[in-house]
Amino acid sequence: MNQAEILVARAIFPEVLDVLSSHFKVESNQADEVWSASELTRRMQGKVGALTTGSERIDAALLQANPQLKIVANMAVGFNNFDVPAMTAAGVQATNTPDVLTETTADFGFALLMATARRITESEHFLRAGKWTKWSYDMFAGAEVHGSTIGIIGMGRIGQGIARRAAHGFGMNVIYHNRSRLSPELEAECKARYVGKQELLQTADHVMLVVPYSAESHHTIGAAELALMKPTATLVNIARGGIVDDAALAKALAVGQIAAAGLDVFEGEPQVHPDLLKVPNVVLTPHIASATVKTRRAMAQLAADNLVTYLTRGQALTPLNTL
Ligand code: DGY
Repeated sequence: MNQAEILVARAIFPEVLDVLSSHFKVESNQADEVWSASELTRRMQGKVGALTTGSERIDAALLQANPQLKIVANMAVGFNNFDVPAMTAAGVQATNTPDVLTETTADFGFALLMATARRITESEHFLRAGKWTKWSYDMFAGAEVHGSTIGIIGMGRIGQGIARRAAHGFGMNVIYHNRSRLSPELEAECKARYVGKQELLQTADHVMLVVPYSAESHHTIGAAELALMKPTATLVNIARGGIVDDAALAKALAVGQIAAAGLDVFEGEPQVHPDLLKVPNVVLTPHIASATVKTRRAMAQLAADNLVTYLTRGQALTPLNTL
């Protein structure tokens, strides 16, 4: 019997690869090489399905070169690497991995907020460099987190997870801005108040970005928005590179226009704007908000399940488009 062929474009958990291999003929990239667009297009030849991460771009050119393709399952909740309209036009099912990473990513948002506001990495570098000679009353004095005001931009599942932690765990005043308001029930549960973007930026002690990337959300935070924020404020981006104008942020941090930033995602990552590397008041992590073993396994499993259910039964579990 001729087995359907699929491509697993990046390294994944071997046990999930084994599940896929029990259903399909699999070409995998367990060496985790970063393929160019032309290499990815070439590797897709003959494949009816593919498992990708947020690093692989699925666009009209790749689809045109691979008319046999039926489904691409992204191992990520974000899908700005997919041209979904082009996939729909080509009859290709697109899927992502919602829900399984919500709480883990919200945990990380809080970890990054705490590390940023309380200057944890900056003070650790100081200690490791052998500079700690005495206790001082203002040494690495940071910003209060409990009881302060958090402004959340993007109030989807992860934003709501952040809000619950902030309101119920840290007694914070929660304000949010989103394309649409939450239901009164959800607002009550998250203890969150809807405000305009300008009010949020002017009022929040901590601004948390959890908005999906799109042409509309590009540079949601640029020079003008940074100028509205309090000089004592922190900014945390766990959403996507490009939501923040990184060059403008580096400038704002260098001159103390805002106090600090925590960034898990970057414009043009894995490149990081060189000016961000020069300022001490920024905590930088390499896109790891969903990175616990349990959650990454669940993401891989859900992406694999989407391939199996779609290619064997014509039904995706978490579809992004309707064909
Ligand atoms: C996601 O799921 O979108 C995370 O950013 C991991 O890529």
